[in-house]
Amino acid sequence: MVKENLEKLFGLQNKKILLTGAAGGIGEVLAEGLAGAGGEMLLCDIAEERLAAVAAKIAAGGGTASGFYMDVSRTASIREAVEKIIADAGRVDVLINCAGINKREGFLDVTEETYDRIMDINLKGMYFLSQEVAKHMIAQKSGNIINVASHNSVGMLGGCSVYGASKSAVTALTRSMAVEWAQYGIRANAIAPGHFITPLTTVTWEHPERSAYLRERIAMRRPGTPEELVGVTVMLASDSSSYMSGMMIHIDGGCLAGGFPWPYDTKY
Ligand SMILES: NC(=O)c1ccc[n+]([C@@H]2O[C@H](COP(=O)([O-])OP(=O)(O)OC[C@H]3O[C@@H](n4cnc5c(N)ncnc54)[C@H](O)[C@@H]3O)[C@@H](O)[C@H]2O)c1
Repeated sequence: MVKENLEKLFGLQNKKILLTGAAGGIGEVLAEGLAGAGGEMLLCDIAEERLAAVAAKIAAGGGTASGFYMDVSRTASIREAVEKIIADAGRVDVLINCAGINKREGFLDVTEETYDRIMDINLKGMYFLSQEVAKHMIAQKSGNIINVASHNSVGMLGGCSVYGASKSAVTALTRSMAVEWAQYGIRANAIAPGHFITPLTTVTWEHPERSAYLRERIAMRRPGTPEELVGVTVMLASDSSSYMSGMMIHIDGGCLAGGFPWPYDTKY
């Protein structure tokens, strides 16, 4: 009975899940975790070799996954990939916008080129991919969108102005999607990872001052691992969260809560 109840609540059987950034540190682990909960994974990225390896690993473990080249910064590439995905899979039940980049530079150093690159991938990409996929979701009168935001949507690190602006906008767009598309049976939510170890952030965690700074600001005093994002993503992708829309969930080891406490009086 426990197994049936869990499957009913959190099972992703019969759900076709389009995930961008699927060859990345978080994307790969989400792809495996969602496939492990029964989802049929439609994996997208520009890193084609890595993408094929992720799809093959999932298939070898008994899951279902296929890889599609998609450059989210180009609307033509988005349209082409979505067309192919719909032709192959028939529909998309869940869209997870996970592709993202960062370049850490002071506000005064950012060039127009860097600004455009970060915005094109983190913001414009998720906007137009969501638009393209939502057209199909509206036709099928159901859908579910999960956007990967960030701690920097709310709290800000130095040298992350454009990244932070893009991720704040991701949460605003999540609310727009929730408001405009609920009438078509579509819901949208965001997850906001705090500070995780992935290829995107090794440069930060290997930096002595920056990693010490972060540990002070995380109550658990350690970075998160991508595996620690799987449970909440399965919850959002599944019917267990059927009345939830327009929300952002922080997964940050107690970072926004206040971080590691100052010395305080205690008897224990
Ligand atoms: N790692 C963290 O601590 C952290 C914290 C908060 C939010 N995030 C967010 O999580 C998401 C995944 O980050 P990650 O840590 O796995 O980074 P990552 O660099 O390991 O992976 C990013 C993936 O996006 C892909 N990508 C880049 N440009 C693309 C494009 N134009 N089209 C399609 N795919 C493209 C890359 O090829 C890569 O596979 C990002 O949106 C990031 O902003 C990460």
